[in-house]
Amino acid sequence: MRISVVSNYDEMSNLAAEYIVNQINIKRESVLGLATGSTPLGMYKKLIEYYKAGKVDFSKVTTFNLDEYIGLDKENEQSYIYFMKNNLFNHINIKEENVFIPDGTAKDAKAECERYNKFLEKLGPIDIQILGIGVNGHIGFNEPSKDLTLRTHVTDLTEDTRKANSRFFDDISKVPQRAITMGIGDIMRAEKIILLASGKSKAPIIKHMVESGVSTFIPASILKLHKNVEIIADSDAASLI
Ligand code: GLP
Repeated sequence: MRISVVSNYDEMSNLAAEYIVNQINIKRESVLGLATGSTPLGMYKKLIEYYKAGKVDFSKVTTFNLDEYIGLDKENEQSYIYFMKNNLFNHINIKEENVFIPDGTAKDAKAECERYNKFLEKLGPIDIQILGIGVNGHIGFNEPSKDLTLRTHVTDLTEDTRKANSRFFDDISKVPQRAITMGIGDIMRAEKIILLASGKSKAPIIKHMVESGVSTFIPASILKLHKNVEIIADSDAASLI
């Protein structure tokens, strides 16, 4: 696991965007694994700038998003599909049929997971997987637990996660209880994994993850078993290591 410490959020975003642009310029049909949350927002802004400057072409790129809340309408501003359209897809030339996000409105969530797994199998492996990290060490919505699930699945969100994400909602009661998330095995199959961390609130978990052994109670620590992982942390997130 490589750790690149950069001075601030902008530098983190620039570096991550450069990796993606270089990847697509080497292989136009790249498959990207994408994340939501506040951390990758700057990277998405930078990707849009690169696109508008004619430096990258998304027309043959496929994307898989990590996760989606169960029970939010697609037009709900807190749904991850809304987030991705608003912050990236509506501003670049990616084709709708090449965009995959678990459907959190599906009547049968389990069947939706199976459908997603089939697409991952058919179109994968992911070339670059972007991850954020939850304050409890979750990646995607793979929460700390006695055992972790390998493939896309339905998961209950922990109180820690619901509390952390309640900042985007009117109040915590509006935060969904469940989500669909790609599993740890899906993430680990990616050729390269980039985990982004920014801000003082992430410093304790980054320290914990870097210093701990591999534990299912710190899902991000599993990444230590992958051959090509880079953590890009700004100086605040890296301040305790
Ligand atoms: C959510 C997402 C994660 C994300 C995490 C951290 O729970 N499911 O994929 O990494 O939030 O979010 P933020 O980047 O806003 O700190």
